[in-house]
Amino acid sequence: MLILNKTAGVFSKPSKRKVYEFLRSFNIYPGTQFLHKLVLGIETSCDDTAAAVVDETGNVLGEAIHSQTEVHLKTGGIIPPVAQQLHRENIQRIVQEALSASRIFPSELSAIATTIKPGLALSLGVGLSFSLQLVDQLKKPFIPIHHMEAHALTIRLTNKVEFPFLVLLISGGHCLLALVRGVSDFLLLGKSLDIAPGDMLDKVARRLSLIRHPECSTMSGGKAVEHLAKQGNRFNFDIKPPLQRAKNCDFSFSGLQHVIDKIIMQKEKEEGIEKGQILSSAADIAAAVQHTAACHIAKRTHRAILFCKQRNLLSQSNAVLVVSGGVASNLYIRKALEIVTNATQCTLLCPPPRLCTDNGIMIA
Ligand code: KG4
Ligand code: ZN
Repeated sequence: MLILNKTAGVFSKPSKRKVYEFLRSFNIYPGTQFLHKLVLGIETSCDDTAAAVVDETGNVLGEAIHSQTEVHLKTGGIIPPVAQQLHRENIQRIVQEALSASRIFPSELSAIATTIKPGLALSLGVGLSFSLQLVDQLKKPFIPIHHMEAHALTIRLTNKVEFPFLVLLISGGHCLLALVRGVSDFLLLGKSLDIAPGDMLDKVARRLSLIRHPECSTMSGGKAVEHLAKQGNRFNFDIKPPLQRAKNCDFSFSGLQHVIDKIIMQKEKEEGIEKGQILSSAADIAAAVQHTAACHIAKRTHRAILFCKQRNLLSQSNAVLVVSGGVASNLYIRKALEIVTNATQCTLLCPPPRLCTDNGIMIA
């Protein structure tokens, strides 16, 4: 059962917490009519167990996260029952840490918000059942959260962004373009027809055995590809971006992955090496796949911006493109998107990396 300590740990804190403590010293408790509402957010949709407490003005009082990346890197991808077990082992500690860092009593929470979809069913189940027990124990309202909506709205914690704005979500599990018209009002403009770009980069990195590369052994697949690409020459391979003729804003990455697979097989033959050894052309392949993915993402986004502007769905002079997700931390892809936004008089905004990837703050 859930036993959440009532006392809080000592962490560095934003000034608002000092106010809470000051008021407490007079027996005036936050969560009453005097202060903001506090929401505990819980995220377990994929391979991060995360929790945070945020107040209604967007102030982050405390957060905690446990990443499973290291384990999944070793097994060569996420195995859902393994992810589920790791969520089970960590969720109580992570929620406890977020509450302690916030220096609030669980009873002061106004609500508990938890990701309910989309994601890995086994992972989502852990967060949901934990939250429902907590809701029952604390007698608090429950707020079900759509993971993609949370990603899309995160930018409003750090920037003053008015609706409507365009959002591009690119990560290991997501790939979509949507017009955000309001907090729960989204117009989906395009999505991946197969896998997400991060998933494709992870598969390419695995096929290139980059985990054995001394410079990349602790990096995610996408980060390893970005790192190696800096040393490579993309012009050694001529790869066409996917869906060049499709008159929509959808994406596709599995065809690109197969093209790269074939190139790797060919190179292994040429270099006379076994699968599992590192090709001398690995950096060139990384540069080529990164460039092709960047072109594809930039072209589909360009289409979406033009579509929205033509139909007056976005402001002509003040349009905003928000890019988020783990792949959004790729500087080469960001550069490609910058070219598109400069050409269309849009402002490009990316949340800071820790808010781009899965976290509890966006849920809260
Ligand atoms: O958002 P995220 O942490 O988790 C979800 O998938 O929801 O994103 C992880 C993905 C992985 O596929 C990882 O390879 C990719 O983001 N990624 C990157 C970079 N850093 C992480 N892809 C390209 N360039 C990077 N620098
Ligand atoms: Zn996500």
